Amino acid sequence: MNITRILLPVDGSRFSDAAADMAMDMAASFNASVVLLHVRKTVPTGLGQPNADELLEYLTKNAEVVMAHYRGRLDNARIDYIDLVVGGGVADVIANVAEVEKCDLVVMGSKGKSNLEGLILGSVTHKVLNIAHCPVLVVK
Ligand SMILES: Nc1ncnc2c1ncn2[C@@H]1O[C@H](COP(=O)(O)OP(=O)(O)OP(=O)(O)O)[C@@H](O)[C@H]1O
Ligand SMILES: [Mg+2]
Repeated sequence: MNITRILLPVDGSRFSDAAADMAMDMAASFNASVVLLHVRKTVPTGLGQPNADELLEYLTKNAEVVMAHYRGRLDNARIDYIDLVVGGGVADVIANVAEVEKCDLVVMGSKGKSNLEGLILGSVTHKVLNIAHCPVLVVK
């Protein structure tokens, strides 16, 4: 198996931190590059002003904070990467970006920010496993 491009979708949770460790290890071993991705919620249509602008500003700032954390780690490890923030349905965006960016592998956390007790997989990971066209490595 030739791994040249790894998709790393992150939400800032300890699970996606663990996935980032794994993705960076693999990128170093395979001399692969990483596509760092955060999916931002979208602003509901019809929310009205100024609420819509305020929500967008909040979501954009939040995405920036999440991305800065992983960018720092990738920079330190001297991994070759690109970073993307995309608005939309999380699992659909992850599966789409995996295809468009021609990733060979998705490395993601088993759970995320909600971390509901008793659940083995978060809903995003569950859906990505269903719809992705490439292998998915689930890190816990
Ligand atoms: N907004 C996001 N952008 C990019 N990746 C995400 C995002 N949300 C979750 N992920 C990825 O999916 C993994 C699992 O998170 P998921 O959201 O499925 O679990 P959860 O938050 O515990 O549960 P749920 O969201 O279903 O309430 C995370 O570790 C991360 O890799
Ligand atoms: Mg979640």
